[in-house]
Amino acid sequence: NEKFTVSSFMESKKKGRKISMLTAYDYTTAKLLDTAGVDSLLVGDSLGMVVLGYENTLQVTLDDMVHHCRAVARGAKRSLIIGDMPFLSYHVSAEESVRNAGRLVQEGGVHAVKLEGGREILKHVKAILDAKIPVVGHLGLTPQSVNMMGGFKVQGKSEEQARAIIEDALMLQEAGVFAIVLECVPAKLARLISERLSIPTIGIGAGSDCDGQVLVMHDMAGMYSDMVPKFAKRYAQVGEQIEEAAKMYIQEVQEKLFPEEKHTFKIDEETLSKLY
Ligand code: KIV
Ligand code: NA
Repeated sequence: NEKFTVSSFMESKKKGRKISMLTAYDYTTAKLLDTAGVDSLLVGDSLGMVVLGYENTLQVTLDDMVHHCRAVARGAKRSLIIGDMPFLSYHVSAEESVRNAGRLVQEGGVHAVKLEGGREILKHVKAILDAKIPVVGHLGLTPQSVNMMGGFKVQGKSEEQARAIIEDALMLQEAGVFAIVLECVPAKLARLISERLSIPTIGIGAGSDCDGQVLVMHDMAGMYSDMVPKFAKRYAQVGEQIEEAAKMYIQEVQEKLFPEEKHTFKIDEETLSKLY
């Protein structure tokens, strides 16, 4: 199977072939999703919530991201790996933004980075692109701005907000990003933006007219229940399965049903007799 690249994103949009993306944070999961044939793996800073147990994504550090990107990069063969730039790693200066994006590529092994925001981070997006690191944009609900937004809320319902998102999308495209994630915006606004852009949009809670879709793996597989957003379709109940499996294991340990003979190792009788 051929590698999915930055150009594959553009070709997919031209052909009307939908792009599939899922988050991954570790080697084993990355390998499973890559083998399943997903186009792109996002090492999202959502790992702060679903892997590290934080309330939001603000406490995730660049070191956390590098650590998880490395694990995912080792597990994926075909899919394009995108690493999220965490809060404050692309806000201070263009220089710092390039250095930090560079760490995700050089130490983390990702192919591209994703940044939340529009016009306010444009200078930093351009600097990262100048270093030849492909960039994905992220507009609408941008979780790193949760304290400014006053919660995780749908964005772009008012004319003013919708216009700002459209303009930001066009500015990011003009700057050279190869895709834009649209999170929690009305489906018809996402459709309008997708039609207006030549680069693909990747939607999450943004309807079916985006050029691709992304879901958090733990939502997709049904493993995370602290917060279940409206758009989080559960394709399996892996969380319940793990809990059930653990209950059976606990019971078998207590009843001495596990381990069985076939799970154990032998020593020959003669050697054993010398030990008594
Ligand atoms: O961190 C993340 O998982 C994301 C996706 C929800 C787009 O940014
Ligand atoms: Na993210």
